[in-house]
Amino acid sequence: MKYLILYSSYYGATKQIAQWIKERLDIDKKEVMCYNVKDFDKIQKTSYDVVVLASPLYSGKATDEFYSFLKNSFQKLVFKKLVIVGVAMQKKACFDENHQLRFLSDYKDIREKASVQEVLLGELVFDRLNKEFQEKLFAFYKSMNLDEKQFKNMLSPRTLLNKKDVWDFAQKI
Ligand SMILES: Cc1cc2nc3c(=O)[nH]c(=O)nc-3n(C[C@H](O)[C@H](O)[C@H](O)COP(=O)(O)O)c2cc1C
Repeated sequence: MKYLILYSSYYGATKQIAQWIKERLDIDKKEVMCYNVKDFDKIQKTSYDVVVLASPLYSGKATDEFYSFLKNSFQKLVFKKLVIVGVAMQKKACFDENHQLRFLSDYKDIREKASVQEVLLGELVFDRLNKEFQEKLFAFYKSMNLDEKQFKNMLSPRTLLNKKDVWDFAQKI
């Protein structure tokens, strides 16, 4: 079985998850390639049994480079199974009432091809973010009317990365 994992990642959480998926598939002796979507042009082969696409979610959306890949390159891939993964700090709001990933609502044709849609939990370290992201996040937390303790908690480094969950997921795809 040939697998291709394509991920986008700004701060490393989605890259880590992609690597854990590969690691678990490697144990089962699958043939696995793992690339950043930005390096899609370096890929020689286009035909796979399973394609896994993963992007972090920022304000409910995937990254620009992930959407560019969907627009410009996705159609070059041939596969039997498509798996799409969002990486976020919570799962529920990422799905609509039909359990479809919201961040693909403008890409319904692609979303319909995905037999697996999942959200895996990531990591958020405020002090590592660029100024624009810090300001966005700060404004978002302010709008939530948190008390001082909750606010401080949100700004402290938080990781929900869980290798066991990622390995369990990888076993099923
Ligand atoms: C500005 C900003 C907006 C975010 N928006 C969301 C969101 O809408 N939903 C969510 O669950 N997580 C949100 N997150 C958390 C990211 O999805 C999380 O940090 C993710 O692990 C980042 O992945 P990466 O390290 O691969 O870039 C946001 C983080 C930032 C900084």
